[in-house]
Amino acid sequence: MRARSYAKINWSLRVTGRRSDGFHDLETLFQTISLHDTLTFARAERLEVTCDDASIPVDETNLVVRAARALGVDAVKIHIEKRIPPGGGLGGGSSNAATALKVLSAMFGIDASLPEIALSLGSDVPFFLVGGTAFATGRGDVLTPLAGVPPVPLLLLLPEEKVLTREAFRALRSFSAPLGLERSRAVAGDLYAHQGELVNDFEAPVFEMLPRLRELRERLLGAGASWARMSGSGSTLVGAFRETASRDAALQRFSGLRAEPAGCVARGA
Ligand code: C5P
Repeated sequence: MRARSYAKINWSLRVTGRRSDGFHDLETLFQTISLHDTLTFARAERLEVTCDDASIPVDETNLVVRAARALGVDAVKIHIEKRIPPGGGLGGGSSNAATALKVLSAMFGIDASLPEIALSLGSDVPFFLVGGTAFATGRGDVLTPLAGVPPVPLLLLLPEEKVLTREAFRALRSFSAPLGLERSRAVAGDLYAHQGELVNDFEAPVFEMLPRLRELRERLLGAGASWARMSGSGSTLVGAFRETASRDAALQRFSGLRAEPAGCVARGA
């Protein structure tokens, strides 16, 4: 059994306040994109997780191991083909965990509350159970699926720099006012008309720590992107283009850096 585990970007990401449980309240527009890892599942005598990227720990800290443990599954071998860089703000580990929860619960006929288990694994994991375009509040787990956005050619710049989400939250200096569901629905319905509202509160503190990321965002705009922002708490920069041809031309201008074309993925893909 093989399953794709898609990455996400945030069209916008507002941090609206600090909570009493140590987390922060967010308001975000999530989007699954075509960049994906591939997970392969096979019945086995014990739980074993392997990954083609040696830098990814496959011990008890791995979110796929934790997802299997949370479901009480201990007789499966899972291999991860890793294409989503860790520490890139693309939710790779969270996506892998959600994919494991979906596949393993079906494979072993487990009737469990997946959203609840997902949130216990990480704030972004519940979104990946849903995918597509979604509005989220709370820790990112209070989700409203939205109509999918029209096809948008994207260019991802995946720098070597890694950002620890916890540290990005710690570096935040101010919070934003939320837009609310209806306004956010209108924003998602016509992204280019609402660029002023597609902000990411992590850009200021993260760009201060890693000024090269700000330069890369400016280079994306200089290369013809109609919109460019950091995804999540970084370090990935995302450019959105009006035409596939202009995106493909821009791709040529980022040699010496991992740059990948991508598209949006609809819910249920
Ligand atoms: O939930 P997750 O494990 O992805 O979060 C990693 C860290 O990011 C948390 O320990 C917390 O410091 C911070 N975080 C937060 N508010 C959120 C999500 C994450 O403060 N909504």
